[in-house]
Amino acid sequence: MKLKFDYNNMMESSIGEHGIKQSDIDNAGNAHAAAFAEVINNSGKGWQEWADTPMISDAEINELNEFGKNIREKASSFVVLGIGGSALGPICVFNALLHLHHNELPAAMRKAPKIYVEDNIDPERMASLLDVIDLKTAYFNVITKSGETSETLSQFIILYNLLKKAVGEKAAKEHIFVTTTIGKGALYAVAQKEGFKIFGIPGGVGGRFSVLSNVGLVPFAVMGIDIKSMLDGAKAMRAACERADIKTNPALMTAFLQVRSMQDGKNISVIMPYADGLKTMADFYCQIWAESLGKAVDKAGKTVNCGQTPAKSLGVTDQHSQVQLYTEGPFDKVVTFIGVENFGATIGIPADETADIGDFLKGHTMNELITAERKSTEFALTKAKRSNFTIMMPEVTAETVGELLMYFMYETAFAGAYLGIDTFNQPGVEEGKKATFAMIGRAGYEQKLRELNSIEKNVAYIIK
Ligand code: PA5
Repeated sequence: MKLKFDYNNMMESSIGEHGIKQSDIDNAGNAHAAAFAEVINNSGKGWQEWADTPMISDAEINELNEFGKNIREKASSFVVLGIGGSALGPICVFNALLHLHHNELPAAMRKAPKIYVEDNIDPERMASLLDVIDLKTAYFNVITKSGETSETLSQFIILYNLLKKAVGEKAAKEHIFVTTTIGKGALYAVAQKEGFKIFGIPGGVGGRFSVLSNVGLVPFAVMGIDIKSMLDGAKAMRAACERADIKTNPALMTAFLQVRSMQDGKNISVIMPYADGLKTMADFYCQIWAESLGKAVDKAGKTVNCGQTPAKSLGVTDQHSQVQLYTEGPFDKVVTFIGVENFGATIGIPADETADIGDFLKGHTMNELITAERKSTEFALTKAKRSNFTIMMPEVTAETVGELLMYFMYETAFAGAYLGIDTFNQPGVEEGKKATFAMIGRAGYEQKLRELNSIEKNVAYIIK
């Protein structure tokens, strides 16, 4: 494992009465054993098939790489249509591992086509996409685990229709490939009928745990990312998360510290990477943490209304926005810093005599400055007795990103096990999906529509 986890500043020894006592960890041996057993004994089973997603064969990796190369050779743009867990993996890995201005690079400098991940149905966004892509050389990966999600299906219908007009019926079929559950859902049926290439998602891999399945791997192959290294990183993290001793298991330890902090009223989990490439990694974390842990009832059916609200923050940008609150506001947060030791570039601050401001900066590098600022924020928070811990990445590579993604999945699974909830369902999301089907007139949702229509708005509470 290349990542390092420093949780000193979660502890009483570092932040005093707001910290966790060593005895809190030591005395919870049964809880650790139960949470560990629940996750590890079910690894690869039920909704925990995600734990096996890095275990694909070299032959499968080669096949994906071949596919990706083929698309790269002919595509000017590669567009992912998906939402939630079917989009955030491709988005965060794209941002982490490709050039920060990938789409703006001249074609000769780009190692992959322009990449777009369309995870919203704002009509203006669709219109804007159509303004910048050339349908004749654009390829579309429609990703939906259920094959039923209104947002993704609407995007697909619009674009398939336009594609047929742009390149003809036969060619249009080759511009679309589908990632979905084999044998299930509306999209699978259409894909079969139309003859689109189909990539499967294993039955027991849920949306937010699917980044290392074909949901992520197909786009990563097109992006030219080293899939093998990424999966090797994920396997190394899996091995670390299978260590029974909490002192050596990063995901079990931080899950426990978060859940213990929640019991002390720390109901906000701030994730703060200090690297622009990891900005959307925070979105990935926010989704998996929120959708997995925000639950009304525990497994025994008892009302718990639990969860920790994730908040996204970017170092150093948000030092000038949110850190004041983190340092002096309520004691209701745990801040997770993600630091990077070696950035993909080194930029010096030159000793330019004409710019005789900031002598203290000259001769240093931006790398030194961002590191100093991360450590200073950690210092300020710790001095103010605020719970925080740091994940250090030696560098942002396919391998370390694979580790980080796997860590987030295990940390979430362990946290859900400590809380005694079903980590892998999302009844709140499903309710919204059903209400959308009803409002848009889908057959079979008439009762839901009646329920919706029965809600009367009190005009006295509407300001015009
Ligand atoms: O994590 C989840 O299960 C959700 O966020 C889904 O990924 C999201 O609702 C999209 O669902 P689907 O992939 O079925 O289109």
